[in-house]
Amino acid sequence: MERSGKTQRRRIMIAATASALAAGAAMVLRPSGVVIPHPHGAPLTVELGDLPEGKLRTVEWQGKPVWVLRRSAVAVAALAAHEGGLADPDSQQSMQPPSCQNRHRSLRPDIFVAIGLCTHQGCAPNLQGETGFLCPCHASSYDLAGRVFKAGPATANLVIPAYRFEADNRLLLGVDA
Ligand code: FES
Repeated sequence: MERSGKTQRRRIMIAATASALAAGAAMVLRPSGVVIPHPHGAPLTVELGDLPEGKLRTVEWQGKPVWVLRRSAVAVAALAAHEGGLADPDSQQSMQPPSCQNRHRSLRPDIFVAIGLCTHQGCAPNLQGETGFLCPCHASSYDLAGRVFKAGPATANLVIPAYRFEADNRLLLGVDA
């Protein structure tokens, strides 16, 4: 009888321990389904000394493609010409640091920095020479400041990340200007 009582108590303790471990494992392993990105992440240095005018460099930062484009003075001047066709010409409904909420959407007119993902469903747009970017998925198009044209399904401009210049030809992604 005594032996049976001890066995019973041991079984109860094992069951309680297993239950507690299972609960702990569930807390660790349970997928939340929500991805909360770190607001900045580790900064990334991008060298621009060998980036010629008109060329686009893509770097990966926080798992996303980030574009750095060196625009010509002609391309920058042309940004004023088509604002009637843009969905958000003043970037009031779009995401960028306050220091980049201007016509060229950048700290410096010649250097454009943006997350290279379409704001419709996240495809990768392609550079179309001096005319802008075209998304191959559903034909949203953006000018060379990442401002979206009304004609396509995307309604927000490309996202501009935080960055600052460390030198004329060196910028740091992920740090406010
Ligand atoms: Fe770019 Fe749809 S994902 S237009």
